[in-house]
Amino acid sequence: MPFLDPRQPYPITLADGTPYRETVQLAAVIDHPRMEIGDFSYFTHSGKADETAAILAPYLYPFSQERLVIGRFVQIAREAIFITSSANHAMSGVTTYPFRVFSPQTIDGYQDLPYRDTVIGHDVWIGHGATIMPGVTIGPGAIIAARAVVTQNVSPYTIVGGNPATMIRQRFSEAEIADLLALAWWDWPIDKIERALRHLESGDFAALKQV
Ligand SMILES: CC(C)(COP(=O)(O)OP(=O)(O)OC[C@H]1O[C@@H](n2cnc3c(N)ncnc32)[C@H](O)[C@@H]1OP(=O)(O)O)[C@@H](O)C(=O)NCCC(=O)NCCS
Repeated sequence: MPFLDPRQPYPITLADGTPYRETVQLAAVIDHPRMEIGDFSYFTHSGKADETAAILAPYLYPFSQERLVIGRFVQIAREAIFITSSANHAMSGVTTYPFRVFSPQTIDGYQDLPYRDTVIGHDVWIGHGATIMPGVTIGPGAIIAARAVVTQNVSPYTIVGGNPATMIRQRFSEAEIADLLALAWWDWPIDKIERALRHLESGDFAALKQV
């Protein structure tokens, strides 16, 4: 029987058989018109499961124009946060005060801003307290260090950290990264992923290609 189940809201079961309720599978607990979330991606937080979207991306509204796209097998640590485009106040005037937000007659025309999607690739690990700024694209297999503030795109299989986040190192050679992107193991059927687990964990590229 497969041990990965994308419909399970709480993917971790404690030794006493009860679910650990602070880690949630995003696709199982979030229903948000501006979020697109791949299976098996999880986030740990101390709120209620139905508060997950508001904790993770508090400025992404159902009426926002931008989207937050999160791939499969993304791992998001506590206190990580997505600041999406709707968080921005217009800066072209003298004041950034959002006067028009306070009247239902004017709110619609308030934000005439460039809206940019935030896109998180498959198998990205986002460390504790990382902040992902609007419009960033993070490539598959990247690692975002704890407390990083990501303001620029991150290449696949690259580790970034700091504020603003800069490259710490690449996880693999260019050739290996190309191989991994072509393999796209995250799209394999679950039974194949489970068969490949030890190679995925050990980084045995040759064996992975044979699965
Ligand atoms: C990014 C991380 C994975 C790096 O691991 P690593 O490859 O073993 O890195 P090292 O510890 O060898 O450090 C490499 C460099 O990155 C720097 N670095 C490490 N973590 C950093 C961070 N959070 N912010 C900024 N720089 C960091 C180190 O200072 C070092 O810099 P130097 O080369 O100038 O000396 C790790 O430090 C991290 O942040 N993990 C996230 C843990 C987490 O948040 N877990 C939450 C639960 S899932």
